[in-house]
Amino acid sequence: MKIVQISDTHLSPSKSHFNNNWEPVRAWIEEMAPDLVIHTGDLTIDGADHEDDITFSLDLIGQLSMPVLMVPGNHDVGHLPGSHQPVDVERLARWRGLAGPDYWVSDHGDWRLIGLNSLLFGFEDEEEEKHFAWLEEQLLSRDGRQVAIFAHKPLFVDDPKEGDTGYWGIRPRQRQRLFDLFAGADVALHASGHLHWAWTGEHAGTALVWAPPTSFIIDTLERPMPGERLVGAVVHTFTDGGVVSEISAIPGLTSHVLDPIVEEVYPQAAKKKTLVEAEQ
Ligand SMILES: [Fe+2]
Ligand SMILES: [Fe+2]
Repeated sequence: MKIVQISDTHLSPSKSHFNNNWEPVRAWIEEMAPDLVIHTGDLTIDGADHEDDITFSLDLIGQLSMPVLMVPGNHDVGHLPGSHQPVDVERLARWRGLAGPDYWVSDHGDWRLIGLNSLLFGFEDEEEEKHFAWLEEQLLSRDGRQVAIFAHKPLFVDDPKEGDTGYWGIRPRQRQRLFDLFAGADVALHASGHLHWAWTGEHAGTALVWAPPTSFIIDTLERPMPGERLVGAVVHTFTDGGVVSEISAIPGLTSHVLDPIVEEVYPQAAKKKTLVEAEQ
């Protein structure tokens, strides 16, 4: 089974900065002819507050001729409590109504694929508890299958024991719960997006893959992270024995850089940048 993972397309009808990369991505995926495409979130520039960002992105992704599964990103359903767009009932209902379930399970022969909504982690509320209980159930009922997990946010950025990395990783308490659930559950792969950096690694027997974005890289706006800055996708090849994941560039893709256009695309992030500069 071959799966192409794409991430962080950041499409929008009103902020069209990265839309030109969709056609080369679509054409390349058709050429690769995978059995399945998985989008690990941030379909949109601002689907958390603009319904037409979600419908526009779904229309483009719907051009693909093979099945597509997706999980939402923070720009699709909102982010942590205290952020300027926290996940809430309305944002979740919008995603679920337009895009379908925000988490899912899909069995393919000897493999169980699980899509997580990592934006629910960090609230310590009923939705989060429900999500953990659901994940535990999917792992317990895997019936001898190996497991591959797809989520927007990585489990950690620099170190599995690191503290709270705020915007970027899963908070320590929720990360430990995930590690505990994964232990002994044949979780061969955890594949994510969100960072706009491409990297592969390993933790406790689980291969970790950060898919590159198809939209933009970040220059000095954020600190450097492990891996490399590139735009592209990941090809995951699943066999009875395991999974091989290859990060791949895509011909014809523009490597947009967020920094010079951040004020147009993400004014909130630009404001944060100005504050940091003012403090320095
Ligand atoms: Fe993103
Ligand atoms: Fe993100």
